[in-house]
Amino acid sequence: MEFDALQYTRDDDGIVVLTINRPDALNALNTAVMDDLDRAFRTARSDDAVRGVVLTGAGEKAFVAGADIAQFPDLDAVSGHRFAARGQAVFNRIEQMTKPVVAAVNGFALGGGCELAMACHLRVASEQAQFGQPEVNLGILPGYGGTQRLPRLVGHGIATELLLTGQRIGADRAHAIGLVNRVVAPDALLDEARALVGTIASKAPLAVAMALQALRASDQPLADGQRYEAALFGQACATDDFQEGVDAFLNRRSPEFSGA
Ligand code: COA
Repeated sequence: MEFDALQYTRDDDGIVVLTINRPDALNALNTAVMDDLDRAFRTARSDDAVRGVVLTGAGEKAFVAGADIAQFPDLDAVSGHRFAARGQAVFNRIEQMTKPVVAAVNGFALGGGCELAMACHLRVASEQAQFGQPEVNLGILPGYGGTQRLPRLVGHGIATELLLTGQRIGADRAHAIGLVNRVVAPDALLDEARALVGTIASKAPLAVAMALQALRASDQPLADGQRYEAALFGQACATDDFQEGVDAFLNRRSPEFSGA
């Protein structure tokens, strides 16, 4: 798969590793990266051989150090609005993937980089990772969903502090507040992220997809979310993999899921 601004590799287990590849600019998100990200996730979504995605940044220093500030001087009210809406749409499509997407955060995840990590389903961080939403230092606010996803992940109070001070936090603090799921040594990062995708990929694929759909509805009123959950539960009960999973349990064997 050919991309200009990222590397796309798929291993024999069907796990795609997407590496944003602008290390000289700390993998800042310019138009080329955003276009490639969108195309890469569309490719991964439609390829039946793909079971999940690990997203990371090239080099040892950064996951993504934010949107490309070099592109900012040209923004005005109209183009700024368009810029944010486009980024939100790309990130929403990542979040809406029905296969697991794990961010392997290898260094700075600032601004749009933190927002990108939050659009992934799970986050594994290297001990060297640093997170933050420093947009207030530039006279803006996050525009790729950060003001919405950060409070959902870490709670309103801590999100308010991070968004208003622009402070950077390390991996341990990010773990303590629930921003990342796991913290590992830098050289264990990719293996850990791959293993996490592999674990999820070994489960019933439709059940995983439906759980992701239901989770996305968790910001709706409880009754609406529960109605949706019950409808999905009914759909899950109609799958072959439900029969297989229950039969395997009752007969004390490992299930062999077909994805149907
Ligand atoms: N956009 C464009 N270029 C960026 C960038 C960004 N968000 N972040 C880093 N870079 C570039 C730098 O301009 C520099 O390029 P150069 O070598 O051509 O001068 C290169 O990446 C290395 O960055 P540098 O600042 O020299 O590294 P550092 O170790 O001193 O500092 C950071 C690292 C991440 C603290 C610092 O680069 C930074 O604050 N970046 C901006 C973070 C930010 O505000 N993101 C939100 C944007 S909305």
